[in-house]
Amino acid sequence: MAHPSGAVRVKLWDGPVRIVHWLLVVLIGFSWWASEDHLNWHRWSGYTIVGLVLFRIYWGFAGGGAARFSSFVKGPKAVAAYAATVGRRDVATTPGHNPLGALSVLAILAVLLAQVGTGLFAVDVDAFEAGPFSDRVSFELGRKIAEWHELSFRVLQALVVLHVAAVLFYWVWKRTNLIGAMITGSRALPSDPGLAGAPVWRLIVGVVLAAAIAWVLSKGLRF
Ligand code: HEM
Ligand code: HEM
Repeated sequence: MAHPSGAVRVKLWDGPVRIVHWLLVVLIGFSWWASEDHLNWHRWSGYTIVGLVLFRIYWGFAGGGAARFSSFVKGPKAVAAYAATVGRRDVATTPGHNPLGALSVLAILAVLLAQVGTGLFAVDVDAFEAGPFSDRVSFELGRKIAEWHELSFRVLQALVVLHVAAVLFYWVWKRTNLIGAMITGSRALPSDPGLAGAPVWRLIVGVVLAAAIAWVLSKGLRF
């Protein structure tokens, strides 16, 4: 059955969640490409990612409905119970991230924090390219941190492959298209969970805060 009977279209992902998601996809790809020979662009793309990740974390507490961590982060019991049923060939009906997908969201956000955090202190082998905080640590430590920066990128790549594989698994095996909802924001569900939106002032506060922190970090706290 392609759609549960009596399905209604439910607004799931708000604009901020979708914009953050697709900007992350584009900018992480761009950062990867620019890490070869365009370290200046690499850093600017990285500072934008700092802002996006900080905003998404803020939105997990201040945003509406399905964006809130409290609406999708579940304890080990719920994760285990969901994992036991994940292979079933039925259409997924969770109004937002399922308990297993929630772990992937948290893991990706945590590794992105590690990625940009190490980037801020990293220095390249001839000290020609460096993050804005690299002069606060010794050259040796800056090099060590650059190695962690590379390592964390490998972990990020693995998580993204797993993430996209999971989305494809839902599409092909469970006949559930999750991608459409990340583009349009809405999806057909058996009933309307009545997710509340967030007032626009919270969005403005979050954007201003995240942009200000990203800018201050890009300056290495020097003015
Ligand atoms: C660099 C690559 C990517 C990263 C870092 C990434 C990261 C994320 C994150 C953090 C979320 C949670 C959304 C939120 O609550 O804010 C998410 C959800 C999602 N992503 Fe990605 N993503 C990537 C690539 C992709 C690609 C290529 C696709 C499509 C093929 C995709 C499809 C989705 C979908 C459908 C969801 C919602 C899943 C659900 O309904 O629970 N992502 N992604
Ligand atoms: C999600 C964001 C980021 C990704 C995916 C990323 C990825 C990478 C990759 C793949 C490399 C090449 C590693 C190597 O082969 O040696 C690299 C190098 C580097 N990155 Fe990032 N990076 C990100 C953010 C940042 C940020 C925010 C900064 C600092 C402002 C930064 C500063 C550097 C520096 C200085 C290097 C050169 C280190 C070296 O040559 O060993 N990166 N990054």
